[in-house]
Amino acid sequence: MTEALQQLVLITLDEQGTIDDTRTLILPGQGQPATSNDDQITILGVLNSLLSREMITYETHEVLSHALTPEGVQIVDKGSHEARVWSVLPEKGKGTPVNPAELKQLVGDETAKVGQGRAFKNGWIGKEGAGLVKSITQIIDTTKNDMQEVASTGTLKAGEKVLADLRKRKLITQRKGQWFTVNKGPNFSTSAAKPETDLTVDMLASGAWKTSTFKKYNFDAEGVPTNGGALHPLLKVREEFRNIFLEMGFAEMPTSSFVESGFWCFDALFVPQQHPARDLQDTFYISDPQKSLPPEPEYYKRVSRVHEHGDFGSTGYRAPWSHEESSKLLLRTHTTASSAHILYKLAAKCRGETVEGDEQEYTHGAKSTTSLGAEGDDGFRPAKLFSIDRVFRNEAVDATHLAEFHQVEGVVADRGLTLADLIGFMRVFFKKMGIDKVRFKPAYNPYTEPSLEIFAFHPMLNKWVEVGNSGMFRPEMLEPMGFPKDVRVHGWGLSLERPTMIRYGINNIRTLVGHKNPIENIENSPAVMF
Ligand code: PHE
Repeated sequence: MTEALQQLVLITLDEQGTIDDTRTLILPGQGQPATSNDDQITILGVLNSLLSREMITYETHEVLSHALTPEGVQIVDKGSHEARVWSVLPEKGKGTPVNPAELKQLVGDETAKVGQGRAFKNGWIGKEGAGLVKSITQIIDTTKNDMQEVASTGTLKAGEKVLADLRKRKLITQRKGQWFTVNKGPNFSTSAAKPETDLTVDMLASGAWKTSTFKKYNFDAEGVPTNGGALHPLLKVREEFRNIFLEMGFAEMPTSSFVESGFWCFDALFVPQQHPARDLQDTFYISDPQKSLPPEPEYYKRVSRVHEHGDFGSTGYRAPWSHEESSKLLLRTHTTASSAHILYKLAAKCRGETVEGDEQEYTHGAKSTTSLGAEGDDGFRPAKLFSIDRVFRNEAVDATHLAEFHQVEGVVADRGLTLADLIGFMRVFFKKMGIDKVRFKPAYNPYTEPSLEIFAFHPMLNKWVEVGNSGMFRPEMLEPMGFPKDVRVHGWGLSLERPTMIRYGINNIRTLVGHKNPIENIENSPAVMF
C-alpha cells in the first residue's frame, strides 16, 4: 500500500504539477476519494517519507470533520428510527393498524419512541382508529443517507445546519482532520528509489556518490538509549567493606602486585619453608621468570636467621634454609603478603632509615584518620590499614571454590595491643556488616599467635559458620622488620566471595564469577547495605 501510494503521489504530481487537495486522491485499492481522516493519516505517512528525501513539499490544512457515533453507525446498518417504524406498519386500508404496544414489541422501545414522532413529522405515518398505518407508500430515509455521507466524506453537502442537528441528535461527533497540498521538491523524480543512508567506500571508488540521492540527517531523532555499565556484585560488596574500614579510620594499602616472592608471601611471615601451603599443589609458581630480585640483604639475613637458628627470643624452626625456595616467584596466596610489605615500610624509621613521604609510602595516600597515637622516639607510628584484593590458590574448582578469590584484610599496629583489642575490633567490624553474633575459636597460623577463627551465626542456615581468620602477628615476623618490642600488630582476614554469595543468595560460586554468570545478573543485581 505504502509503495503504491507513494507512486500515486509522485505520478499525480508529475502529471498535474501539484496536488491541491489530497482528499481528491483515490487510494490504491479503493474506489472512492480519500476523504476520511484515516485516509489522510495514511497519506501523511507517505508525504513525510517523501519529504525527508526532499522529493516533495507539502502544506497542511486543518478541517473539522465528522464521524458517526455508535448510534449513527447503527442507522447506516438498519435505517433511521423513523424509517424502521414506517417499515413495520401496514399501508393505509390494507391491514390491521399497529397499536403502540405492538409497535414497541416490533421495533424496540427506543426506536418506537424516537421513530414515531419523526415519522409523524415527516408525514410518513398516520392514525387509523387506535393504531398506526403508513401514510405514504415510499419514503426517502434522509437520516440514513446523511449518515452514509458523513461516514465516507466526514461532512455533509447539506451544510452546517443539518450537521448541527445531527450532532444534537448525537448521531455524529465533530473531530479535527487534516488534508494536504503537495508540490514537487528539489529532488523530485517519479522513481522513488530508496535514498542512500551511508556513503560507502564502493560509492567513492566507483563515483556513484555523484548521482546518488542521500537521505537527510534527522537531527531531531532520538538516539537508541545506551546501556550504562554495571558493577559486579563483588565490587559492590567490596565497596561496602571499604566503607566500613574507612568509617573505622583505616587507610587502604596498595595491593597491586599479584606476583610475589616466596620470601614476602611466606618467609617474612615466618611460614616455615617446609610448610605444605608452599607445595606445588597449593600454590601457583611462575615459570618465567622463576626468580625474584633479592630483598634488602640485612632484612633477608634477619629473616633467614630467625627461621634457621632462631632469634629475638625464639628458637626458630632449626631446619635448613633454602635461598631458592625464598626467591621463587608465585601468585600470592593471601593479601597478608602485601601487608608484610607495608608493615616492613611502616617499620623503616624504627630501623633508622630516613623516610620521605611518610605514610604516603605505605597507603594509597589516605592517612589513618583516627591515629592511635603519635610517632614515638623510636620512629614508630601506630597505623590501621586494610586491603581488599585478589589472591590465588591451586585448588580444584567446585561449587564453593575457585582458583582465585578476594580477601578482605585488616591490620592494626600499636604499642601494647592485646587479644582483647583484636576481639573488640572484630566485634565492631562484623557488627557493621550486620553480624551481631560472633564467636572465636583458637586456631593455628604460622604467622600469628594466638590465632582465632571467627564464627558467625547464620540465621538462614541456623548454624555457626566460619567467616574469617585472625591473630596477633608473631615477634618472629615483626622483630626482624625492626618493630620495637612493645609494638603489637594484629590482623584478620576473610573472603569477599562468601559474604557476597550470602547477600545475593547464590550457592554456586560459578554463577557469581566467570563465564557462566549471565550478564543480566550483573546488570540487575541490587546494591546492598550491611
Ligand atoms: N592470611 C590469612 C588467610 O589467608 C588471614 C589472616 C590475616 C590471618 C591476618 C591472620 C592475620 O586466611
